[in-house]
Amino acid sequence: MKNKLLFTLSAACVVMLSSCGSKPEPMDKVIERSLSAAKDQYMMLAEVMKDKPDLLPRTIDTAGKLITARSNWWTSGFVPGTLWYLYEYTGDSKILEYATEMTSRVEKEKNNKGTHDLGFMLYCSFGNGLRMTGEISYNEVLLTGAQSLITRFRPKIGCIQSWNSRRQWQCPVIIDNMMNLEFLMWAFKKTGDSTYYKICVSHSDTTMKNHFRPDYSSWHVVSYDTITGRVEVKQTHQGYSDESAWARGQVWGLYGYTVMYRETGLERYLDQAKNIAAFLINHPNLPADKIPYWDFNAPDIPNALRDASAGAIMASALIELSGYVDKETGAKYLEVAEKQLRTLASPEYLAKPGENGNFILKHSVGSLPGKSEVDVPLTYADYYFVEALLRYRNLLEKQKVQN
Ligand code: GLY
Repeated sequence: MKNKLLFTLSAACVVMLSSCGSKPEPMDKVIERSLSAAKDQYMMLAEVMKDKPDLLPRTIDTAGKLITARSNWWTSGFVPGTLWYLYEYTGDSKILEYATEMTSRVEKEKNNKGTHDLGFMLYCSFGNGLRMTGEISYNEVLLTGAQSLITRFRPKIGCIQSWNSRRQWQCPVIIDNMMNLEFLMWAFKKTGDSTYYKICVSHSDTTMKNHFRPDYSSWHVVSYDTITGRVEVKQTHQGYSDESAWARGQVWGLYGYTVMYRETGLERYLDQAKNIAAFLINHPNLPADKIPYWDFNAPDIPNALRDASAGAIMASALIELSGYVDKETGAKYLEVAEKQLRTLASPEYLAKPGENGNFILKHSVGSLPGKSEVDVPLTYADYYFVEALLRYRNLLEKQKVQN
C-alpha cells in the first residue's frame, strides 16, 4: 500500500509540472507556508477566545467582527480539532494548552441526544486530542458521546436520525451524517461492541440505496416514514433545489464512504467513493482551479459563489482515497487535490495575518438559501484544509524516505 501511494504521488507531480509552463511553487513550500499562516492565525484566535470561556469561534459578520457559538452548535469541535492538528505540526506547548482548553469547552455535548452532529463535535476535538496525547479521560467523553449518538439510530429505517422531526419531515437523514461514522467505528474498535459496527454498516448501506442518484450525485435530505420505514421525500435544505447537487453534501459523501472503506474493508464502499469522486472530478461545472461552486447546479455559474469548505473537504478525502486505488486513478485524485490546496493557499482564499477574524480561509458558504454564512470564513473549511495539508505532507515525507 505504501509503495503504491508514493508512486501515485510522484505520478501526480509529473502531471502537474508538465501541464504548466512556469515552475510552480514546490508543494512542500506551499504546505509549510500555509501551515505556518494557519498556526499564526489560530494562535491569535485562541488568544481572543480566552475571555469568552463558554463559547467557540464560528465565523465573522459583515463588519469582520468575530461571531461565536455555544458548544451545542454543530461546528464546536472544529477549532479545537484544528488546534490539535497544529499541535501535531508544531509540537508547540502553547498550542497544546489552547487545544486542551478549547476541547474542554465541548465536553458537555457528550450527553446531547438531540443532534446527529456528535462526530463533528466530539471526534474532531476529543478524538484528535486522544490521538495526540493519549489522555485517558478523553475515552470516557468519547464513549459517552457515542452512546448518546446511537440513541438516534432507527432500526425500522436503518439510519441514524439527523435532525429531530419537523413539520415536513418525520425522520430526516442528511448526507452529512456519513461523517459521524468514523466516530462510531472508533467506539467499535475501542469497546469491541458490534452494535456500533452494525449501525455504521446499516446507515452506510441505507444511505447508499436512498440518497444517491444514478450519476452518484446525492440528495441532501432524505426523510423517512417512521412507521413504515420507507422514504417519504427527497429534498434539499442548503442546496439550490431538491434535484441539484449541493457541493458540500457531495463531498461529505465522498469523505464518508472513503472512511467507511478504510474502517471496514468492504469493497462496496470503495466503489461508492470512487463513483462519487468521478462525478465530482468530471463534472463540467467544476472550475479549473477545482474549488466547487456552492452548488454544482447554481443557476448563475460561472458567477456563482465558491465554497472553500467543499474544496478543502474534497481535497482531504481525495488524498486518502488515492491510497486505495490503482496508480493511474490515484494520480488523478492527487492532481485535483494538489490543485485545490494550491488554490486555497493563494491570496484569493488564504487570509492575510490578523485579517478574516483570524480564521485561515476566506470564501465559504454555510447556507445560501437560508441567507446564513454566505461568503465567509467557516471553521470546518479551516479544519479540513489543515487536515489535507498534513495528509499531503505525510505523503511527501514518505516519498523522501523512499528516495
Ligand atoms: N452539516 C451542515 C453543513 O454541512 O452545513
